[in-house]
Amino acid sequence: MTERPGDPAGDGIAVQRLRFLFRLFAGTQCRGRSPVYEALSEGIAADDGLLDLLMATPGGQRRPSLLFAAVNLLLASDPDSELAGYYPVHGGRRPVDGQLMPAFAAFCDAHRDELTRLLRTRSTQTNEIRRCVALRLGLDHVRRRWPGPLALVEAGASAGLNLLLDRYRYRVGDQEAAAAGASPVTITCEVRGSGTVSPLLGPMPEITSRLGIDEYPVNLADPQARAWLEAFIWPEQAGDLAVLRAAVDLAVSADAAPVACGDATTDTAWLIDELPGHEPVVVFSASLLSYLSASGREAFAGQLRQAARHRPVAWIFAEAPGLVAATDPDLARLAAPVATRNAQYLVGASLHAPGERDVASLALADPYLRWIAPARRPSDDFQWLPEVTTSRR
Ligand SMILES: C[S@@+](CC[C@H](N)C(=O)[O-])C[C@H]1O[C@@H](n2cnc3c(N)ncnc32)[C@H](O)[C@@H]1O
Repeated sequence: MTERPGDPAGDGIAVQRLRFLFRLFAGTQCRGRSPVYEALSEGIAADDGLLDLLMATPGGQRRPSLLFAAVNLLLASDPDSELAGYYPVHGGRRPVDGQLMPAFAAFCDAHRDELTRLLRTRSTQTNEIRRCVALRLGLDHVRRRWPGPLALVEAGASAGLNLLLDRYRYRVGDQEAAAAGASPVTITCEVRGSGTVSPLLGPMPEITSRLGIDEYPVNLADPQARAWLEAFIWPEQAGDLAVLRAAVDLAVSADAAPVACGDATTDTAWLIDELPGHEPVVVFSASLLSYLSASGREAFAGQLRQAARHRPVAWIFAEAPGLVAATDPDLARLAAPVATRNAQYLVGASLHAPGERDVASLALADPYLRWIAPARRPSDDFQWLPEVTTSRR
């Protein structure tokens, strides 16, 4: 590893943080899921020249997934390059070997200007529709307490694909659910453990309105925006790429749910106030909290409390447990037993209505919902689920 003695102190700390993030990404996100990204993350963590590339991007966006997506986007137009040979999504079949890291470094070197431009101007944009499994589990929990129609809002909705949850078919463990109408999209998710608080695929409640909120909504009519979304699919996930494309085609041909350009930490309450009707509002967030500062997370929780003064509001989340715990004191108690499980997401629900406050853990899951382990009781501590558990898919 080369050190950076001449750096201004701030940059030096930022590079150290990036080094740590890549190692964490390798150990918690990639292991067992992506041999290519695991090997590259370890290699990048030890290469200051590559870490420096990400220094072009604004602080909050400096994360491994952004560099990987920028490279993946360029690889889509260069499928004959040596590096693409390691990426099944680009037709590659080469297993990880000692030439992967040199090929990655050479590719970045040859495309340094384009990469720097992408990293300066783009932000992380994923839309993982498998997270609809978490949303369905949460909706079932809400439906039992508040039977009847619901309005649906997703904070950090990206392209809004999760808002079309009833347009997809589901195969979750041994349960199946049909879509509303014919669907080219099937969401699959493995179930771990036994016992569930709610059925994983309970009846879909009537959804009266749908709205997404995102700082950078993805315009699916724009081919470049679609290509950027696809660039976040991991090298080995050719199946996920096909599912994403089918979901995007469906959203473009169906009446896609609107995604408002806004900041979830300041705009959620007034956007909810503007929704028609008086039925309860479900706010879903998945992988949003890690994009917010500590004060942003508190502000988001405040927005939900504020909106709940006018109509019942339920927050359904699929988020890192430690961040859930840091967002709200009631949730801190609920998430405490799993708060250090950085490689897993807590799926839960937090219901606010005048005189009513109810929080429940519903499941632990892989962050991309490749598997879900439903809770055995509302305040399950999940001691029965191994902390390090990799996807079998
Ligand atoms: C990792 S993506 C997850 C998208 C979607 N929830 C999913 O599960 O596929 C996080 C999204 O949050 C958005 N985001 C980040 N900070 C935000 C904020 N303060 N307000 C609204 N959206 C935000 C990003 O633009 C991005 O689309």
